[in-house]
Amino acid sequence: MIPTPPIASVTPTTTALLSAHRVHVAFPGRHGASDARAVDGVDLDIRRGEIVALVGESGCGKTTLARTLLGLVTPTDGRVTFDGRPLEYSGHSLKAYRKRVQLVLQDPSGSLNPRHTVYDAVAEGLRIHGHRGDEQAAVAGALSRAGLRPPERFFLRYPHELSGGQRQRVVIAGALVLEPELLVADEPVASLDASVRGEILALLLRLRDELGLSALVVTHDLGLAWNIADRVAVMYLGRIVETGPVEQVLTAPRHPYTQALLSVLPEAPGDPVVLTGEPPDPSRVPSGCRFHARCQILAGGEAERAGVAEACRTRDPGILTGDGTAQVACHWAAAR
Ligand SMILES: Nc1ncnc2c1ncn2[C@@H]1O[C@H](COP(=O)(O)OP(=O)(O)OP(=O)(O)O)[C@@H](O)[C@H]1O
Ligand SMILES: [Mg+2]
Repeated sequence: MIPTPPIASVTPTTTALLSAHRVHVAFPGRHGASDARAVDGVDLDIRRGEIVALVGESGCGKTTLARTLLGLVTPTDGRVTFDGRPLEYSGHSLKAYRKRVQLVLQDPSGSLNPRHTVYDAVAEGLRIHGHRGDEQAAVAGALSRAGLRPPERFFLRYPHELSGGQRQRVVIAGALVLEPELLVADEPVASLDASVRGEILALLLRLRDELGLSALVVTHDLGLAWNIADRVAVMYLGRIVETGPVEQVLTAPRHPYTQALLSVLPEAPGDPVVLTGEPPDPSRVPSGCRFHARCQILAGGEAERAGVAEACRTRDPGILTGDGTAQVACHWAAAR
């Protein structure tokens, strides 16, 4: 049995490991339609040892932003920097980058090949990157860090012989084997049972504490963000509309959209806010504040009383800086 190392807390440092600067990603519209502005001006920093949750409803651009940070999508405007250097989208440096920043998908999305053993699944990254050291030791170490112990017992198993939680751990081991500095996890536990979900989240937290790993966790589950993240970024129609320390944003949300998202959680006090208006469409981003047509504060007359209703309809609140401080892109919140 490999002993679990003691937990040493790693405090996030102030310099960003990964940064998005004014990142835009537009997909060309079909049949003469306007471009879909999936990511429409995002600044976001992720520091070493920090877990950032990216939350927002379906279609708001979370996966597109995550893929852009991974170097899988080239931004149509803006740039991504890692360790202070701009990301290049071809050649050798991209391959090196893909080692340092790993994607963790949820297993049911098909990230594990049913015909590959656990050993081969975890070793795949090493082989792609031409690892020269002891492959077996690296695979065993990664499985063990992902909580599959003793690792040798899992080497020759196939995905269908494992539980959902164990399969997710294999996926995480496959990312860890390359000793990355940052994980990007897109809905890592969405399809797991509640108890298993807690275990996987605890694992991600332990990796942060023991290895100083940073993570961007993409989720539409605010409860998950609460349990795991240091910081949260709330995305609406291609923009981050509110960001800050997780406790601050989730206990005292300032943006009407964040307030609406929180109001529908089962444990939320008061009546749920049902957003009216059409679901957001990135090929038709409203002028003014992009949320204004669905905003309960504008519809309820509160923005009018605060003297900002005209601004809500006509003036873009702008792009928030990604430096980690608490910020909100809302005329009404700014006027309070
Ligand atoms: N390759 C593509 N071509 C055209 N449009 C795209 C493409 N990928 C994404 N989109 C559009 O960009 C917008 C953002 O999609 P994205 O998958 O990033 O959202 P998401 O927040 O991850 O949603 P979900 O929570 O459902 O995973 C959507 O309107 C989507 O239809
Ligand atoms: Mg997605």
